[in-house]
Amino acid sequence: MRFFLRHCWTFISGVSVLLAVCSVTVHPYGRPKEIPNGNDSQGDLKLPPEINVLLKHSCMDCHSSRTAWPWYSYVAPVSWLLERDVQHGRDRMNFSEWGRYTPKEQQRFLANIASAVKNGEMPLPQYTFIHRQAKLSDADRNIIYRWARLERRGLRASQLLLPPSPAEHVLTGR
Ligand code: HEC
Repeated sequence: MRFFLRHCWTFISGVSVLLAVCSVTVHPYGRPKEIPNGNDSQGDLKLPPEINVLLKHSCMDCHSSRTAWPWYSYVAPVSWLLERDVQHGRDRMNFSEWGRYTPKEQQRFLANIASAVKNGEMPLPQYTFIHRQAKLSDADRNIIYRWARLERRGLRASQLLLPPSPAEHVLTGR
């Protein structure tokens, strides 16, 4: 029995050391904890306070450069799953880099936010499973949906009011 226990402990400590080393050195999905250039904002999306609160609790960990990393996000293999979601989420749409997107992209994102929230696709279920407070009620979903649609409409209207760009000018000969 003592022999077995001793080996069991050796095994457990071996695995722990291996996981600790992997946590620090192995990042199969990139290193989203390191913000490139130390700059975490490229023109944030401007949000009314009530929308800001909702998106902050439910979306910003994966769709902004200001992710709150809990302690378990540093422990492999959980860290890899979280890093994967954050990396993919930011790659697809990053609220901290909103200013980099063209008005067309911003309109597409706003349309996709409206439908993702309405259909319950976002926030991802594996996230709300751990972050209970990130769950959106039907009323919250409605508020975000209406805001995203309105924001998109406003953006489209402001684009229509703009004078044609120089390139269009040349093409149309006007
Ligand atoms: C746990 C991380 C996570 C959270 C939290 C999260 N998302 Fe996502 N989101 C993702 C990932 C990953 C993708 C890419 C999905 C894919 O490629 O299939 C994505 C994709 C999207 C897209 C599609 C972007 C595009 O290409 O047009 C939208 C819109 C979106 N999320 C909105 C939201 C909103 C709104 C919230 C909050 C209510 C939210 N997400 C919360 C991880 C997350």
